[in-house]
Amino acid sequence: MAQGAPVREREPIVDPPEDSPNTIWTRRDLFTAAGWGAVLVYLGTVLLAFTRFMFPRVLFEPNPVFDAGSADSFLVGIVDERFKNEKRVWIVRTADGFYAILAICTHLGCTPNWLKAENKFKCPCHGSGFKRDGTNFEGPAPRPLDRIKVVRTPEGKLVVDKSAVFRMAPGVPPAVQYPQSTLKV
Ligand code: FES
Repeated sequence: MAQGAPVREREPIVDPPEDSPNTIWTRRDLFTAAGWGAVLVYLGTVLLAFTRFMFPRVLFEPNPVFDAGSADSFLVGIVDERFKNEKRVWIVRTADGFYAILAICTHLGCTPNWLKAENKFKCPCHGSGFKRDGTNFEGPAPRPLDRIKVVRTPEGKLVVDKSAVFRMAPGVPPAVQYPQSTLKV
């Protein structure tokens, strides 16, 4: 340094004021917050997965077996409609037994109506018609109405099992395809 040159004093280092916006989040704070955020997201995901596990997607369907009451309450030659609305089932008593028909049209699944005067089931959706035994004979339905299993208990009650379906193929009368679909008495 040259002799006699003025000596400049260093400027004092001044801390930034406390409330300066630059001092609220340091880099370390940001990394810490990001770390905690990741932990919270992870925990939330685990909690959601656990909650989902505790409530599996199970369909609680009604019992397919139902008690239709005394066999004697069904009259020969009558298509009994007692269970049509609640169970979508007709029970028919013939001279030699009982059979139960599923009230689900084999075209697209509408509920047909029993037309007593015309002695047939008629679907209101697209006009399919079915004979008293379930055989399709008009409209777009491709096959007869399905039947379901009906049994008689030792106490004389009819029990219908909607899980035991006699699925009908086209072109063959239901009683020929599935003789066991008629409960002989
Ligand atoms: S759903 Fe019955 S005729 Fe179409």
